[in-house]
Amino acid sequence: MTDIVVGLDLGTGGARAIAVDLQGKIIAQATRSYPLLTPQPGWTEQNSSDWVEASLDALFDVTQQLNGHQPIALGLSGQMHGMVPLNAEGKVIRPVILWNDQRTGKAVAEIEATIPRQELIQRAGNPAITGFQLPKLIWLRTEEPEAYTRLWQILLPKDYLGYVLTGEPVTEPSDASGVGCLNLANRQWDTDILHALNINPALFPPVSESTAIAGRLKSEIAARVGLPIGLPVVAGGGDNAAAAIGLGISSSNLNRGSLSIGTSGVIFAPCDRPIPDPEGRVHLFCHVDGGYHLLGVTLAAGGSLRWYRDTFAPQISYTDLMDMAERSQPGARGVLFLPHLSGERSPHLDPDTRGALVNLSLAHTPADMIRAVLEGVAFSLRSALEVISAIAPVEQLLATGGGARSNIWLRVLADVLQTELIAPKAEEGAAYGAAILAMVGVGAYPNLKTALNIFAQDSIVVQPQANLLYEVGFKRYKLLYDTLKAVR
Ligand code: XUL
Repeated sequence: MTDIVVGLDLGTGGARAIAVDLQGKIIAQATRSYPLLTPQPGWTEQNSSDWVEASLDALFDVTQQLNGHQPIALGLSGQMHGMVPLNAEGKVIRPVILWNDQRTGKAVAEIEATIPRQELIQRAGNPAITGFQLPKLIWLRTEEPEAYTRLWQILLPKDYLGYVLTGEPVTEPSDASGVGCLNLANRQWDTDILHALNINPALFPPVSESTAIAGRLKSEIAARVGLPIGLPVVAGGGDNAAAAIGLGISSSNLNRGSLSIGTSGVIFAPCDRPIPDPEGRVHLFCHVDGGYHLLGVTLAAGGSLRWYRDTFAPQISYTDLMDMAERSQPGARGVLFLPHLSGERSPHLDPDTRGALVNLSLAHTPADMIRAVLEGVAFSLRSALEVISAIAPVEQLLATGGGARSNIWLRVLADVLQTELIAPKAEEGAAYGAAILAMVGVGAYPNLKTALNIFAQDSIVVQPQANLLYEVGFKRYKLLYDTLKAVR
């Protein structure tokens, strides 16, 4: 019977546990979902108890499929930016506020009134952003002061899970850099920022390395999930950084980034030094391997296509929608789509901007509109890639997520982004990256670089082709965003 490691990813839709052998082969997997709460427009929350139940159930499901294989470590990953507030008894004192919550506009203004925006970008890699954890803490201080006075620790989602599993409150740089007050140069909390905001730095957990052992599995949890008592739990990474490691993307190969088309669209580009965009238009976070990465986020990518289907064509399958888009032409015969259906992050950082489908005529068909949606998402990602490329140009992007399973969308993306796309035939996501971090954490591999060398992947490669219609379309797309500001 061989050794295996377990990866656990705390997503927004659910918890996913996988067991992986030391050659990277998946032995078992299980997923459990939980609800998303929207108590007010623009607010998103989850109950930490739902996370814990789902995670422990998923771990139990996995251990039931191990057939004698021996677990040697567990690694964590999870949705970034959320705030789990704990009191001195280690109890969670209110529902968790999530990464996509938009309630913190005033808190963002308060941070930027205290710390000049440029200084914040230089120190923390990013300006104050509504989704990040630090503005949530300031919101709590203003809106729920009684809860604020009872705070002992605030944790990120996967770090809270680590705390439940081990009793140790610990974070690591990839997730901590999404809080908004981690000093990116020394990868520790920036106490100058915290003191300026009158926040006690002791509210935040210690920052260890991503491959460090955060703690050991408590006996009562071990009994419940069927894992060994004292199993090393490795700190792991935020979901984007962990997913990148699952694809072999590290800061020792700066030519290769990733492009994920799920509900949101995310471009991930590794870099070896913490160089922020001076205007903060894309995020700069720590990578789990000691390096850094830039992240460009289009909030509604697959989400735009889903909106189109739900609104105009609920009876048509995604495969048929994609076939219809083939019947239009590059440039969608003039139709343009802005994918800002839930506001936009990169490069506009504009939660109030909205989507648009314009330039329609009697001659246009659903084929043109679907094609325009695919192209609009690609144009949005190109706007982010242009900012990223000025700092950390990549030659290839590993394309993942549901959208990367469509040949036409891959072709549109390669041609609009003018970048070679490589779509792995199998992709295992953030839980897989967490498992790889766990392997390194317990010394099964001496370092991440060596661990990543063993996972060769079978892929489809799409070379970019020059297309003037897209160049013209992209210019019109950029004009459209600026123009529509007048009609909000
Ligand atoms: C990254 C981000 C999301 C979350 C969701 O900045 O907000 O990718 O990590 O999982």
